[in-house]
Amino acid sequence: MNRNNFTLVKFLFSFLFLFASTYATLAQDAAEGETLFKNNCAACHSSTDEVLVGPGLKGISERRPIEWIVKWVHNPQAVIASGDKYANDLYNKFNKAAMTPYPNFSEGQIKSIIAYIDASNAAPAAPAAGAAPAGAAAPAAASSGGMMEVLLVGLLVIMVFVLIALLSIVNTLSKLSSGEADSEAPLMQRFAENAKKLAANSAVKTGIIIFALLLGGKATIDAAYGVGIHQGYAPEQPIKFSHKLHAGQYQINCNYCHTGVYEGKGANVPSANICMNCHNAIKRESPEIQKIYQAIEKDEPIQWVRVHNLPDLAYFNHSQHTNVGNLECKNCHGEVEKMEVVEQRSTLTMGWCIDCHRNTDVNAKGNAYYDKLVEVHNKDSKTPLKVQNIGGLECSKCHY
Ligand code: HEC
Ligand code: HEC
Ligand code: HEC
Ligand code: HEC
Ligand code: HEC
Ligand code: HEC
Repeated sequence: MNRNNFTLVKFLFSFLFLFASTYATLAQDAAEGETLFKNNCAACHSSTDEVLVGPGLKGISERRPIEWIVKWVHNPQAVIASGDKYANDLYNKFNKAAMTPYPNFSEGQIKSIIAYIDASNAAPAAPAAGAAPAGAAAPAAASSGGMMEVLLVGLLVIMVFVLIALLSIVNTLSKLSSGEADSEAPLMQRFAENAKKLAANSAVKTGIIIFALLLGGKATIDAAYGVGIHQGYAPEQPIKFSHKLHAGQYQINCNYCHTGVYEGKGANVPSANICMNCHNAIKRESPEIQKIYQAIEKDEPIQWVRVHNLPDLAYFNHSQHTNVGNLECKNCHGEVEKMEVVEQRSTLTMGWCIDCHRNTDVNAKGNAYYDKLVEVHNKDSKTPLKVQNIGGLECSKCHY
């Protein structure tokens, strides 16, 4: 290989390196943001303009200045109390629904969430997204990864072309200077010859192989992280039971049917007998209600399809969270009372549990059990007692 070509190959590698590292930081920002968003915000917000518990966050970076967003995420109630008009209007519009504060999020983390929201909206919309009925589109399904990959491949192709063109120029120049005068060959022909030369160059080949391997490795890791995550899962049920109708319109309490949710580990899915409390009188003739009768006659339970399902290795207790922790169902399940078909809104990953345990204050008011702990904690800490301070990050609390 002549010296000029060698310089070019070096140039190629530094360019590749620069490019790969820029890509990596960008992708990492959006990827960190994606995890943070899915673990902390997705129960109440979509990254599109769909309204869930709170407004869809699409376009938020244009709607609000970043300083405002940071203040808001750290402490929404403080922003509202400060008299901020935008915040108060929004709060009233959402019927004074209180957003969870995230005082521990760094500005960088909040920016990465916004980067993810912007990236997922910049990505070309999935073909079905427009046509799907409202609510059926999986929240945050559009991954920032998709757009990044397209961008990456596009830039790579451009780069290779620029390189070949440069090589052509260098070759022509060196031939001119050495007095060879075959530069009459048509431009395209020279271009093709140089492309061949470049492809034959072993350093370039190795470079391309390494790059392909890196790219493949990243895709594999991404796929592995996605395994077992069923966010957005909303299976069809054997009876068209609607939470929107029962829990929303008729305002039947969640624990009327999910009898264990404040007392036990499991929330329980109601047996047909509970349905019969009402449906022995209401809508008896409906074919859907007839299915309840059939189940009771055959003495078989209704075959509800399970939506949320942690692996056996993890221990989760409802009453610990709803009763002791005073959390609302929507913190983890989203607004089920607005769902025609139940959908899994949170990721249910370990990171999701841990993130919340890092951020959430222990509800210690009026709980004598915590008095001593709070006293000890406040002696050497200025921040309120968090779940992580009572052992919420210990492996054995969540794993048998
Ligand atoms: C428990 C539900 C809930 C969670 C969790 C939640 N929010 Fe909110 N958020 C709301 C509600 C409700 C509003 C509307 C204002 C109000 O009622 O307080 C809102 C408003 C906002 C707004 C202003 C939106 C606009 O259109 O101006 C931003 C920004 C925001 N949230 C960001 C976040 C981020 C980032 C997270 C995750 C770190 C998050 N929220 C988690 C419920 C939630
Ligand atoms: C009239 C009875 C009834 C009421 C009231 C009710 N549910 Fe349900 N719920 C069901 C039935 C039946 C299922 C199983 C079928 C389904 O998924 O739609 C279910 C399923 C669920 C699931 C999914 C369970 C799984 O398999 O993972 C969640 C979460 C849930 N309900 C939450 C709530 C919340 C939150 C409320 C209150 C806002 C509520 N439910 C009120 C009857 C009820
Ligand atoms: C506390 C009373 C109550 C309970 C308990 C209850 N329902 Fe209902 N259900 C209603 C009411 C009220 C309606 C609306 C009837 C109407 O539209 O006239 C309804 C409507 C329905 C419908 C729609 C029927 C149709 O064809 O329009 C289905 C399906 C249904 N319920 C299934 C169930 C199932 C399954 C359970 C048990 C998990 C259940 N319901 C428990 C009160 C109840
Ligand atoms: C801290 C988060 C959290 C809160 C708050 C929460 N849930 Fe759950 N819920 C879960 C998880 C996690 C699962 C899956 C449990 C499993 O697979 O073992 C689940 C499962 C369920 C199921 C499926 C049946 C079962 O027992 O596994 C129902 C029904 C349910 N929740 C209803 C509710 C209702 C109603 C409320 C509010 C009163 C509520 N949940 C509050 C996290 C939560
Ligand atoms: C929305 C926030 C939130 C999420 C999500 C959440 N937790 Fe919790 N968790 C809490 C709070 C708050 C407490 C403290 C309750 C109390 O006061 O004892 C708690 C306490 C616990 C405890 C008892 C800890 C101790 O030291 O006493 C366990 C175990 C636990 N959670 C398991 C889980 C698991 C497993 C998941 C995920 C599947 C999960 N949690 C998801 C908020 C959350
Ligand atoms: C607050 C609850 C919680 C704590 C604390 C916790 N885990 Fe987990 N862990 C979970 C949940 C929930 C899952 C299941 C997640 C899933 O299915 O994606 C899990 C999954 C795992 C898995 C299986 C991973 C996989 O992909 O199947 C391992 C291994 C694990 N945890 C190890 C640990 C270790 C080690 C610690 C202590 C440093 C720990 N966990 C602390 C909740 C917790």
